[in-house]
Amino acid sequence: MKGVILAGGLGTRLYPLTHVTNKHLLPVYDRPMIFYPIQTLVKAGITEVLLVTSGPHVGHFLGVLKNGKELGLTHLEYAYQEKPDGGIADALSLAQDFADGENITVILGDNTTDADISNEVSNFDKGALVFLKKVEDPKRFGVAVFDKEDPTKVIAIEEKPKQPKSDMAVTGLYIYDSSVFKYINETKPSNRGELEITDVNNAYVEKGKLRWAELNGFWSDAGTFQSLFESNSYWFNKLKSEK
Ligand code: DAU
Repeated sequence: MKGVILAGGLGTRLYPLTHVTNKHLLPVYDRPMIFYPIQTLVKAGITEVLLVTSGPHVGHFLGVLKNGKELGLTHLEYAYQEKPDGGIADALSLAQDFADGENITVILGDNTTDADISNEVSNFDKGALVFLKKVEDPKRFGVAVFDKEDPTKVIAIEEKPKQPKSDMAVTGLYIYDSSVFKYINETKPSNRGELEITDVNNAYVEKGKLRWAELNGFWSDAGTFQSLFESNSYWFNKLKSEK
């Protein structure tokens, strides 16, 4: 299994911090944010990684990550998303050559988690798998809609719904087979002009090929001042006790 980390976007919600550097290089306790998704992949046995990035500070990544060896990667490749806010699915489309027909585990660069996804990674065969997590503020996320007859079955995902139909958020961790690139090609830009990963996931739902697993442990994104602060606070408490 290969891994893809999506670290594009302009991080406008974190201005003025993101005038200094790319959002994913901002500190989360004692290390740059991007170290966490890399560690999640390495812990799951994924050491061949493509990092997709964009924006005015892209060069900073090379200085920090180099060839990725210090973080346990055996291969680190970079791709540049020309339209920095083209959407998560637009960023993922750049991974087609890297994936080379194989399954890929995808993680958003601002997601930090201490969950172990090794089992899902090693048992994955085909289709798509999304990791869900119960949250208090589902309106901020992609949210799973469950079948009333069979509450274990996801029948749709709604992106930032005003009236969420569940409190299970779609986290920024996904596993896809190679048909993901076909579905991305069929996706049209949303009202906010982005190629939405939620539309891609719904394409899998329509084919009956989307499965889900609950993400165990801590999970947060770090795209707003509050979630960045909460991520810092969690990792400070966890990592300082391990030192
Ligand atoms: O964090 C989980 C949520 O992430 C999901 O619940 C949502 O379904 C999903 O759409 C996404 O929502 P956000 O509003 O948090 O996405 P955001 O625009 O903050 O982008 C998250 C990461 O994706 C960002 O850190 C880098 C990457 N990204 C984003 C965009 C828009 C790219 O690489 N390129 C892009 O064009």
